[in-house]
Amino acid sequence: MVSPMCQYSCEGRDGLATDWHHTHLASRAVGGAGLVMSEATAVEARGRITPHDLGIWSDDHVDALADITASIRDHGSVPGIQLAHAGRKASKTRPWEGSDPLTDDDGWETVAPSDDPWPYESETVPTRAMTTDDIDDLIESFRAAAERAHEAGFRVAEIHAAHGYLIHEFLSPITNQRDDEYGGGFRDRTRLLREITTAVREVWPADDPVFVRISATDWLPDRESWDVGNSIRLADDLAELGVDLIDVSAGGIHPDQQIPSTGPGYQERYARRIKQESESDIAVGAVGGITTPEQADALVRNGRGDLAIVGREHLRDPYFALHAAQELDRLDDVEIPPQYYRAF
Ligand code: FNR
Repeated sequence: MVSPMCQYSCEGRDGLATDWHHTHLASRAVGGAGLVMSEATAVEARGRITPHDLGIWSDDHVDALADITASIRDHGSVPGIQLAHAGRKASKTRPWEGSDPLTDDDGWETVAPSDDPWPYESETVPTRAMTTDDIDDLIESFRAAAERAHEAGFRVAEIHAAHGYLIHEFLSPITNQRDDEYGGGFRDRTRLLREITTAVREVWPADDPVFVRISATDWLPDRESWDVGNSIRLADDLAELGVDLIDVSAGGIHPDQQIPSTGPGYQERYARRIKQESESDIAVGAVGGITTPEQADALVRNGRGDLAIVGREHLRDPYFALHAAQELDRLDDVEIPPQYYRAF
């Protein structure tokens, strides 16, 4: 699977897909990837990280995305969409502009479970604690987004509950200080994700998969935080709600996080633990530092995970999957575009 990767490439501030998104996503389908997951796509406008992120909060977004999903399918792959809300990490400039909080004129009010802002080094940007009415609206936004995404031709929906964005902010005691039914113990902090999952599952066809991306750990071992044990328990709860695969990433909730390693397969150990220790037989995808065909192949073949999810290597090499098939002597199992027969 091509890991979801924000392109920050909408031309207006309208969240509409552009020629860049089309070229970028369709190229990976031509390159042989089995599943092309689009970037974090905002279910409401204030859920964008930057003004240039993709959105799916209106019917206009469906039209812009439909051509892209058709291309991905025509080129032999499966189109997936990551449904997202950035929470208190919204309203920023693009990474290549510094990822700084936007000034009053360009930015917008961010929302989160509690009113603790993201600790920017330079300044404090307030965030507003969501009311239960906001939460009800948010769940409906995810439901409507899933309906639109299916209409646009996507066949896998992934709920983004990782990397310190809104849903993760509810899951983690680092960012959730609520004292209502959406905060407190594990069951209450996971309630929002369970309700969003239920809403998405209700409108997403039973035969089409739903994935959830989580941060398996906050990487804050010295504080009361989200850890792998919580993730194992969550995986079982999500399996019961009809989730097909847990996409296992990590971190992003706080700048003090201590990342133990960023080497090859650096998050694979969390995927493996969830696969081994969860009681359900939910499928598990591993992401992070997978850069070679042998690594991806061994992950699945040795049962440490069910899906190899590859991000940056797909940016370096859009034909990574075809190259991998060639290296692993499995070209008979992939669809090579006839135009490229002489190269493989
Ligand atoms: C990302 N990542 C990411 N993750 C996610 O869940 N939604 C997203 O939209 C993005 N956006 C994004 C943009 C870019 C340019 C990069 C490099 C990364 C994280 C990504 O999906 C992946 O989890 C990490 O990059 C680790 O995997 P690799 O790159 O080591 O294979």
